[in-house]
Formats: sequence, structure tokens, C-alpha cells
Amino acid sequence: MRQFFAFFSGAPRRTAASAARRFSTQLPASYTRAGADDVAFFKTVCGAPHVLVPGDGSDLSKYNTDWMRQYHGATAAVVKPRDTAGVAAVLAHCSARRIPVVPQGGNTGLVGGSVPLSHEVVLSLERLKDVHSFDEDSGVVVCGGGLVLQALDDALGARGWMVPLDLGSKGSCAVGGNVATNAGGLRLLRYGSLHGSVLGLEAVTGSGTVVDALCTLRKDNVGFDVKQLFIGSEGALGVVTRVAIQAVQRPAAVNVAMLGAASFADCRALLRLARKRLGEVLSAAEFVDSRAMGIVLQQLAGTRLPFSTPAPFFFFVELSGSNEAHDAEKLAGFLEEAAAGGLAVDGTVAADGVQARSIWRLREDVSVACSQRGHVYKCAITNTPYLRSRANSRETLHSSPRHPPPPPRADDVSLPPARMYALVEDTRARLEGLGWDPALVVPVGYGHLGDNNLHLNVCTPDRGKEYHARLAKDIEPWVYEWVMGAGGSISAEHGLGQQKAKMLHRARPPPVVQLMKDLKKLLDPNGILNPGKVLPIDV
Ligand code: FAD
Ligand code: MLT
Ligand code: ZN
Repeated sequence: MRQFFAFFSGAPRRTAASAARRFSTQLPASYTRAGADDVAFFKTVCGAPHVLVPGDGSDLSKYNTDWMRQYHGATAAVVKPRDTAGVAAVLAHCSARRIPVVPQGGNTGLVGGSVPLSHEVVLSLERLKDVHSFDEDSGVVVCGGGLVLQALDDALGARGWMVPLDLGSKGSCAVGGNVATNAGGLRLLRYGSLHGSVLGLEAVTGSGTVVDALCTLRKDNVGFDVKQLFIGSEGALGVVTRVAIQAVQRPAAVNVAMLGAASFADCRALLRLARKRLGEVLSAAEFVDSRAMGIVLQQLAGTRLPFSTPAPFFFFVELSGSNEAHDAEKLAGFLEEAAAGGLAVDGTVAADGVQARSIWRLREDVSVACSQRGHVYKCAITNTPYLRSRANSRETLHSSPRHPPPPPRADDVSLPPARMYALVEDTRARLEGLGWDPALVVPVGYGHLGDNNLHLNVCTPDRGKEYHARLAKDIEPWVYEWVMGAGGSISAEHGLGQQKAKMLHRARPPPVVQLMKDLKKLLDPNGILNPGKVLPIDV
């Protein structure tokens, strides 16, 4: 790798209402547990090899336990239909019998949304993995909801195109799961969210009705944009069976650099500079703090820092364009200015794709490394102050006479961007103050700097349930109050799942929650889809 800056060596609220609500994480007894007759029905729909039940010799743990190994269900059956008609038949049956169902893609979700609370049927989409069509002119691809993201990207790559979405979990997560979580990831900065790049989808509602909103046009204003309801609905409104995505041209030139920065303020300044100097070719801007980086280097074989100057923060920048010389020149200009401004203590530029991948691994695999180290308490937030625009629905709702704006919101608007990392520092101070050993309980921060999306992980050794429950109590709901008090969002990109469902009433005003419940009732009248996820179970 080309190292530069070597000469720099050694240089350097919304406050939640005091809601007295109580929620349950138990599946209500009013649901039916799938029995032998139901399993027989599922087998006629899917074929016997595609229905797994406890005791039949199948290993159900991969369906019952989430990626973090923190949520465990005990499904009565895993059902794998082959197509939309199969999904519709299963859901119509389950609705009629009031059998609860958890839709599951790659099971890489990080909020416990993809596994059962108890005996729910797991509806696995893994057989809906076809690429149905691709239009060379428009770049619109239509695929099954169970297709693994990497497989879609590979298929598009062979034709010179690319999925406008890139996650560390791309080798396992599925496109339907991405849509259901409205996944963000590394390319959101450049290509925007799935609310824009998904042009259409097909979904099956909780009663088994197929909603064909599979538009493949970029422009289509015929009535309500129904597909948006399912994007980010976390399997609570319908099962996404097909998706039409606007692919993007695979860039001919990709340049990646990693810099060491002396402070988080310098990372923010690097981002501002990157926006200014790299403009249209900027495709990712991420950060990792040194504690998170330490865990990556310690846990993951084959990782090493590409430069030697110690730094408390690392800034990652990627350029994607069509002209290598032009982009390299732009990057060089950015780096020179960063150096001249004292914004980086050291840095490196990847000389080729292999080096670019090894740099990206240091960022993308932070969550893998943290999980390998032991137990992780995860919180993904956006700490972006709300824009005071009339288009901002929350602002409008809060400003209605029945919901006057809570006092801290005016301050929120003028919140300095530097507060994003203050949450990590405050968490560290809080936990130390409460007597947690800082050598064992390590809050780390990293994330999608360009989207103001912080990932706060509190990493601890595996010390058993009781220890982790005590720690969680010292973090929650304090962490959410902090974020809401700062005008941020308690879920930037992972959703609410079962982990954060209990916070919905505090993060959204009553009319919004009511509208969500009404929509749920309309699309899933018997409440079979993912109970206790997104919308909490009231007691
Ligand atoms: P699952 O985990 O199977 O399900 C997630 C939710 O969607 C559940 O509520 C489930 O019921 C529902 N669901 C799944 N499939 C369907 C369907 N077809 N129809 C309806 N509902 C469905 N997320 C980000 O946003 N950005 C990141 O950068 C990112 N990086 C990650 C890195 C790692 C290493 C890991 C482990 C996870 C990461 N994630 C990230 C989280 C996760 O990968 C995403 O949320 C992903 O979109 C989930 O897809 P999945 O197929 O695994 O869904
Ligand atoms: C990431 O950005 O790395 C992912 O969202 C996973 C995580 O939150 O750790
Ligand atoms: Zn992320």
C-alpha cells in the first residue's frame, strides 16, 4: 500500500415521556401452536423435505437463534415454500388457524426480529432465490425475496452492474430481508435508501393476499405508493416475495483510503472536506474508534493496521467513478488538503482491489470481531438533528395542537454534529461511574459517518445471563433517552425487532403508533405476522 503522511508521525430531546406502559416479551396464549395437521398441510404446499419440525433430526438452531446468539425461540415448524403461491397458501392457513409466523431471510438481523419469541412457525424465504429478469437498458432487476444479496450482486456484476446496497452481512442476508429492514449499509451515502432504489415489490399479507406492487418503472405516480409500506416493516405487515431494484452501473474505478485521525472532530472535518473535494465520486465515508479497531485486530486473524502511527479514530473513504486518473487525482488533492489542515495523523491508499478489501475488512468486520470477543450490547442510532422543514412529518405531528412540541426540540436543531460520538463517551463514563470495570466492559463506536449513523457496541466477556441483564439495565432505557433527548433516532438502520419494540411508544407520538396499529390490523387482521416485533405486545 502507498503510505503517506509518514512525516506526520508522532503529530498528533426529546426526553421520553415517563410512560407507565407495560409490555410483554411473551407470546400470548391466545395463539395456536402448529400441530400435526398443520405440518401435514405445510408439507402438501412445500413438499415434505421443505418442512422441518423438532425431533425430525433437523438442526433447527439456525432458525431459532439470532446472529448475535442473544434471542432464542423454539419454533413448532420451519416452512420453506418455493414460490409466492406457496407463501400465500401457508399464510392463509396460519391466519385462519391463528398460528403465529416469523418471516426469515438470512437471519442476520441485529434486533431479534427474525427469530421466534416462542413456538411461531418460521417461514423461511430461502427457496425464493431466482433472478427473474434484468433489463440491460434500465438496469432494473427483479428477484426473489430469498436471494442472498451477494448472489444478486455477483449476477449483476457479470453484466457490469451493481446492487446499490452493501452490507457486511452480504454473504448471508437476503434481498427480502434487506427490504423488510430497510437496510442502510456502506453505499447509502451515494445511492440513497431502499425507499428510493426499490422500484416495486410483491408481498403477501397476513391473511394470504398477494399484493402485486411489482412496478419496474422509475416514474409511476398512480395512487398511493403501496410498496413503501412494506419497506422497513420488519415482517409485521407482509412477506416480501419479489423485489424490483434499480441497479447501478458498476464503477470502473474504485479508490479507497484509510486515515488515522486525532479526534472525532477531525473525522467530521474529514467528512466535510471529502464532500467538498470528492463530490460526485464520494461513495462511502465511515469511521471506527481505536477501541473497536483494537478488538478487530485482536480477534480476526490476518488483520493488521496499514500504517503505524497510533490514532484514536480511523476514517475510511471510498471513491467510485468511471475514470481512474481523474479519481486518483481528486483523492490526492483531498489527502493533501487533509494533511495540510492537520486532519490526519497518518494514512494509506489501497493500491489495488486486494488492498481495498483488506482495508474494508477493518471496518466491515467490527461487529463480527465484537461478537467473537464475547457478549455485545448493540445500539444503532442516527444522531441527526431533525430538519425544521415542513416536509418533516414528525415536526408537523408534534406541532399539532394535541401534541405540542416537547421542549428540547428547539435545541435539537442546533445540535453540533460532534455530539454523535459524545454518546460513546457518556456511555463509557456512565458505566464506569456505576462500577463496571472498564477493562472488561468496553463501549466502542463506529459506523456510517456520512449518514450520521453511529453504532454503539458495549462489549463484555461472556459472563452469563444475569451479568448481561444487569448491564443491559444500566444501559437501557438511559441510552434511548439520551438519543431522543439529542433529537436522534433510536434505530438508524436495523429496525426495532423485539429488542426495541418497547420503545416505540416513546419514540413516536400516539397518532403515529395508532396509524401503525391500524395498518397492521388491515394487512394482518389476525395478528399472525411477527407478533411482539416492531409493535410491542401490550399487557
Ligand atoms: P433476517 O435477519 O432474516 O430478518 C430481519 C427482519 O426482516 C425480521 O424482522 C424478519 O421477520 C424480516 N424479514 C426477513 N425476510 C423477510 C421477507 N422476505 N419479508 C418480510 N419480512 C422479512 N444492517 C444494515 O442496515 N446496515 C449494515 O451495514 C449492516 N451490516 C451488518 C453486518 C453484519 C456482520 C451483520 C451480522 C448484520 C448487519 N446488518 C446491517 C443487519 C442485517 O444484515 C440487515 O438488517 C439485513 O437487511 C437483514 O437481512 P436478512 O435477510 O438477514 O433478514
Ligand atoms: C455495521 O455497520 O457494521 C452493521 O450495521 C453491523 C453493526 O451494527 O455492527
Ligand atoms: Zn451499519
